[in-house]
Amino acid sequence: MEIHRSKSAIRAELALWRKQDATIVLVPTMGFLHEGHLSLMRLARQRAGAQGRVVASIFVNPTQFGPGEDFESYPRDESRDFDLLRAEGVDAVFAPDATEVYDPHAQTIVETTELAKTLIGKLRPGHFRGVATIVTKLFNIIRPDAAVFGEKDYQQLAVIRTMTRDLDMGVEIIGAPIQREADGLAMSSRNVRLAPADRAAAPILARALDQAEAMAPSGITASRLRSHVRATLEAEPRARVQSVDIRDAATLDTISGPLTRPAVILLAVSFGKVFLIDNRVVHPSQEAP
Ligand code: PAJ
Repeated sequence: MEIHRSKSAIRAELALWRKQDATIVLVPTMGFLHEGHLSLMRLARQRAGAQGRVVASIFVNPTQFGPGEDFESYPRDESRDFDLLRAEGVDAVFAPDATEVYDPHAQTIVETTELAKTLIGKLRPGHFRGVATIVTKLFNIIRPDAAVFGEKDYQQLAVIRTMTRDLDMGVEIIGAPIQREADGLAMSSRNVRLAPADRAAAPILARALDQAEAMAPSGITASRLRSHVRATLEAEPRARVQSVDIRDAATLDTISGPLTRPAVILLAVSFGKVFLIDNRVVHPSQEAP
């Protein structure tokens, strides 16, 4: 497995692979890898095939963190990450410094104008602009045939699908299911920063989503379902509920009245300084999941 720090070095390796007609699949990450990330590497391998090449990137992207967010304290362990990627059979890693990625005079951004303003975009202004811009840069550096992103970051996946389509990027976007700990907590690099009592309380997100999934086929309205979920979360004294939203699963548009199409329940909850998200697509009765 080659580890590249510079754009020119990874481009040189990719040029060779492209000459061999290898399918190239990219998995962008911010490192501190867990089983959720590794499941993306496996999907990437399936898509690339034995003759193809899987490229992972590790870059804690400063432009997607707001002032006062956890850029500085975001967990990092590069050598462990490299070992995990090597064990998965990843072909190359792009792990640049911020100075390699961002020109101080850069003035171009990529923004999904509507999606960037809603839901997490409201809680974290500028976040999705940072994500869309870095993912565009990674696509332009690597020029993959396909790229894999987790459904854990549901709105991020929607942002990336939208920008890829709107700007004719020609990269196939593959969504990957959420991987969870045994107690239901969605895997996240941030979980290690939870205090023990918060770690014990955090599975309340998954439990609230389980309850909502069970209630969805009853003909319940979106607003009542949302109230139930919020009440479940608020019953946990350690949880600070940032947002609970129920949106059309396909468009992320708001919905009112009884559910008639698949809906996604999106949670953002803080425990101490740690910001956690989770989501679940739920189905009304007439829709088989
Ligand atoms: P990061 O949080 O490191 O996540 C990298 C990828 O792993 C994302 O596509 C994310 O959705 C996926 N992922 C994280 N936890 C997961 C889980 N429990 N199950 C399944 N997939 C999971 O998301 C980012 O980095 C960044 O915003 C990035 C896209 C790399 C741009 O900087």
